[in-house]
Amino acid sequence: MVLDELAKRRELARMGGGKRRIEAQHRKGKLTARERLELLLDENSFEEFDLFVTHRCIEFGMQDTIHHGDGVVTGRGTVNGRIVYVFSQDFTVYGGSLSETHARKICKVMDMAVKYGSPVIGLNDSGGARIQEGVDSLAGYAEVFQRNILASGVVPQISVVMGPCAGGAVYSPAMTDFIFMVRNSSYMFVTGPDVVKTVTNESVTAEELGGARTHTTRSSVADGAYDNDIEALLEVRRFVDFLPLSNGCRPPVQFTSDATDRVEESLDTLVPENPNTPYDIKELVLKLADEGDFFEIQADFAGNIVTGFIRLEGTTVGVVANQPMVLAGCLDIDSSRKAARFVRFCDAFEIPILTLVDVPGFLPGTSQEYGGIIKHGAKLLFAYGEATVPKVTVITRKAYGGAYDVMASKHLRGDINYAWPSAQIAVMGAKGAAEILYRANIGDKEFIRAKTEEYEERFANPFVAAERGYVDDVIMPRNTRRRICGAFAALKTKKITNPPRKHDNIPL
Ligand code: HXC
Repeated sequence: MVLDELAKRRELARMGGGKRRIEAQHRKGKLTARERLELLLDENSFEEFDLFVTHRCIEFGMQDTIHHGDGVVTGRGTVNGRIVYVFSQDFTVYGGSLSETHARKICKVMDMAVKYGSPVIGLNDSGGARIQEGVDSLAGYAEVFQRNILASGVVPQISVVMGPCAGGAVYSPAMTDFIFMVRNSSYMFVTGPDVVKTVTNESVTAEELGGARTHTTRSSVADGAYDNDIEALLEVRRFVDFLPLSNGCRPPVQFTSDATDRVEESLDTLVPENPNTPYDIKELVLKLADEGDFFEIQADFAGNIVTGFIRLEGTTVGVVANQPMVLAGCLDIDSSRKAARFVRFCDAFEIPILTLVDVPGFLPGTSQEYGGIIKHGAKLLFAYGEATVPKVTVITRKAYGGAYDVMASKHLRGDINYAWPSAQIAVMGAKGAAEILYRANIGDKEFIRAKTEEYEERFANPFVAAERGYVDDVIMPRNTRRRICGAFAALKTKKITNPPRKHDNIPL
């Protein structure tokens, strides 16, 4: 009977590469492509497309090994009721490798996502281009890449890397907005350890070369890592709740019982008396956020700047904050790159930006200069300056030199700029300033000390900037939540545009 035939075909397709390979996948602590989608999506929300698609390759005896679905499960579903488009590569079918038809399936959901305005979430577990298909699989990859590029800034694109990903399987995620990995079971590299050994004679394990630790702490290719598939997928669900479906809509508004005017008295003493004593800026982020909920991006990379998403009055806000606990919160190559990309994501998707400033300046030295700090620092400067979303800034302590300008200052179209009474807005720290201004008297310790004090008195406060209107108000730390909520509420109607042009030329 035809109905039985449908059921039979469906069952066959759902078995992917077969029981043996599914068991092998489980033995590695990995879930199957379908089990992953069950966790990622709301119950019974998955609508699958192209279950019956098969490859068309006849090389290397491929005509005798046909698997329905061709190594990728694609479709549409919901995450907490909001539509997302998904693909989940099935490692049990030719190692999740990408064939011409596999690529077409991914392209179909990407096209739908852009056309109908919903995020794309890719669960990647793939040996890269399907070797038996040669140039057809390379062509397939390029079709996916092209769509990644055109979808960028239109719909959020999230990649979860959940297995060994090589070649093309890493370049597609690299062009998406966020990459999350699973510790000890996922790898990303252009080529694996064997080729590395042959070409460069380096001996390196897969984990060292491209594991989650490498990519979240060294290369910054990945934005976060989780202990297992389940944790990763549940965190992606939490993350999706912060994001708008596309650049045409606003982020969802979550119900919150956290009062807008919640007073945090402990913030009055957050900044230590001694300007060189560090404190944890994350404490401020958590105390400002609705219910202390903070989704941090790149938590393990460039700790001198903190980036991530919070909600204020139920709506998503992107936070960029200098972290005095790491390298005194200075701007360097890594922190500039990290924050610049984050600011640009927020701007592309109309997510307002809160900037918390405690920055002693750019990190000096040959390693920074040779590494191109001028160009990398300029990325953050450029990103802030081009951003047209609401920008609210709070200077908690130091805002020195060029870094003062960079960190969403009034001069870069900051909308509302606050300072705490502990703020020090100056060209540099007082001692450094006295030593430069009075270089001839540098041996006279007493004189330099007196001049340092004089400089401190004049500039180590927020009032000179406030006198000029560069900060809009000096606020009590305890009231910061109320003040920034009020500012963002007033900025909801903000509309500014940049001059018409093909696109700008951000320093890359
Ligand atoms: C076809 C592949 C495959 C591939 C794996 N398989 N990769 N089939 N094309 N690219 C198949 C294997 O034959 C095997 O089939 C099954 O998938 C599982 O693979 P194993 O090797 O047994 O698994 P494991 O030991 O876990 O190793 C996984 C792996 C390794 C690290 C991914 O398979 C590997 O190195 N594959 C090749 C990676 C690669 O070089 N890809 C091309 C990149 S170039 P059976 O039948 O035994 O289950 C590229 C070009 C695009 O992507 C570049 C664009 C910029």
